[in-house]
Amino acid sequence: MTTELRARLRTLPSFPRELPEFAPDAAPTTPQELFLAWLDEAVATGVLAPHAATLATVDETGPSARVLVLKDVDADGWAIATPADSRPGQAMTASGRAALTFFWPALGRQVRVEGEVRRADAADAAADFRDRPAEARATALVGRPTPTLADDAEYAAARAEALARVEADPSLVPETWALWWVAPGTVEFWQASHDRAHTRLRYRADADVWVRERLWP
Ligand SMILES: Cc1cc2nc3c(=O)[nH]c(=O)nc-3n(C[C@H](O)[C@H](O)[C@H](O)COP(=O)(O)O)c2cc1C
Repeated sequence: MTTELRARLRTLPSFPRELPEFAPDAAPTTPQELFLAWLDEAVATGVLAPHAATLATVDETGPSARVLVLKDVDADGWAIATPADSRPGQAMTASGRAALTFFWPALGRQVRVEGEVRRADAADAAADFRDRPAEARATALVGRPTPTLADDAEYAAARAEALARVEADPSLVPETWALWWVAPGTVEFWQASHDRAHTRLRYRADADVWVRERLWP
């Protein structure tokens, strides 16, 4: 069984026949510019959830990872939102560090952002929260009296109560809602190639400039 599974896993499709060219020597001077160009191409190619990234954090119990959506990119870095009292929120507060990984299989591309985390100020977090649809705001407002859920009825009651609060006060923002900026020390761009001679380009922050370095495939 294991042998069969191993053989099957080796034959699963990864990338389309045509993959884009990536000329690292012609890459822009900042990783933000290249990231936004690649994000545009992912959108144009029809990649679903192209703004979804895996956020990796570490706390005293070890590493953990989950998918989140990108909120913004600017000269300071990459912004994400997750509650301050969630596992990643607490881990980022304690360690001050995180990694984000984007994967766009239709283009054979991966981007890895690693660096220091800064929590955005309350006004920025509130603006992000108020931009969410009412249902998403209600989901975030649902109180979690216990770490695990007893049954659907328990959740339905808590959610109905949260939805009523959101409808009564559309400006409501939970204190724990938080926006975080990952200010990268490194950003790596990976372009797959069918001959497995993949292309990797890393931007490394060095004082005020971005150093561009090729990495072995
Ligand atoms: C596509 C996708 C987008 C998500 N976006 C977010 C997000 O922006 N913020 C967030 O806190 N959780 C988001 N989640 C849920 C997280 O992956 C995770 O389930 C949740 O944050 C709880 O993780 P934790 O137990 O590590 O706190 C998203 C999940 C998926 C699959």
